[in-house]
Amino acid sequence: MPEVVDPRGDGTILARLRGVEMAFPTRGWLGAEPPVKILQNIDLEIRAGESLALVGESGGGKSTLARLLVGLLKATAGSVEVMGYDLSRLHRNQRLPLYRQLQMVFQDPSGSLDERWRGRALLSEMRRLHGLDAEDETLIRLLTEVGLSADTLERFPHQLSGGQRQRLALARALAVEPRLLIADEPVSALDLSTQAHILRLLRQLQAHRNLTLVLVSHDLETVAACCDRVAVMYLGRIVEVLPAGHLRRARHPYSRALLDSLPSSRPSERRLRQAIVGEAPSFRQPPPGCPFQPRCGVAEARCRQQVPVLEADADGNRLACHYPLSS
Ligand SMILES: Nc1ncnc2c1ncn2[C@@H]1O[C@H](COP(=O)(O)OP(=O)(O)OP(=O)(O)O)[C@@H](O)[C@H]1O
Ligand SMILES: [Mg+2]
Repeated sequence: MPEVVDPRGDGTILARLRGVEMAFPTRGWLGAEPPVKILQNIDLEIRAGESLALVGESGGGKSTLARLLVGLLKATAGSVEVMGYDLSRLHRNQRLPLYRQLQMVFQDPSGSLDERWRGRALLSEMRRLHGLDAEDETLIRLLTEVGLSADTLERFPHQLSGGQRQRLALARALAVEPRLLIADEPVSALDLSTQAHILRLLRQLQAHRNLTLVLVSHDLETVAACCDRVAVMYLGRIVEVLPAGHLRRARHPYSRALLDSLPSSRPSERRLRQAIVGEAPSFRQPPPGCPFQPRCGVAEARCRQQVPVLEADADGNRLACHYPLSS
């Protein structure tokens, strides 16, 4: 099986999305309607070895973006390059070796764990598919790495707790030694203490295996503890990218409003709580100008006329706002 080699060589950027758009076909009462654009103008670079969080309210397009990154969806415009390969232009014999490098775990591990298979079959099938050995010794090493005991090889998923199932889903994703792991709300179905264990495990695995991790979450506390950088999404667009350690200094009014979920004593943040009232607008009828303007406490006339462009500052942070807050 051919190995995937990054043709660009330097290996510092693992994935690069340029002008990515994702539109889904829709049907109304009267039949087919124009496709609805869910993602628009997505420009994003994912650095090799980093952990990047995708955050934002429900329905903002985080999972859609995650699925594009592992090739489960094909962008309707723009390009998704991973390890130097454009996912929409892969040669037939490049697909399997490249997809091996891109693994995903989901909120509900049942989606990736066939209930009829024991742990051994679930892990060995993944390895065999990619031409790797599936000796018990190897599988037990994998289980140990995710904090599961060797007897998990004999168990069916329904014989495991929610946390153990998520660990097994992680072991299955790691079984093929991927470079990029995308975890889509991996802990939101678990109780609080299990959440903390799984997040710590993810962080450890990322460091030990030199993995690039993309963590989808709407919990900013999780993200601040687990990730290097954060990309904030709103209505299918990236509106701000900044280091996780600087989250409290976010400049986009939407990012700041999201910080409400963190306990805060800062009066400026408390004031912004009023700015995020109301439902997110519909993708079908997005508001004119900035998508956040109808809910923004600091919007001006220009915000209703022009969509702000996602621009980079000298530190490599990115922001799409006409009137950013001071940091
Ligand atoms: N296959 C599809 N066909 C049509 N619309 C879709 C499809 N997949 C997603 N959508 C729509 O795209 C929008 C964004 O969905 P997505 O699942 O990416 O959001 P999300 O940010 O992951 O939300 P959540 O936090 O609730 O998981 C939603 O309005 C959803 O209905
Ligand atoms: Mg989602």
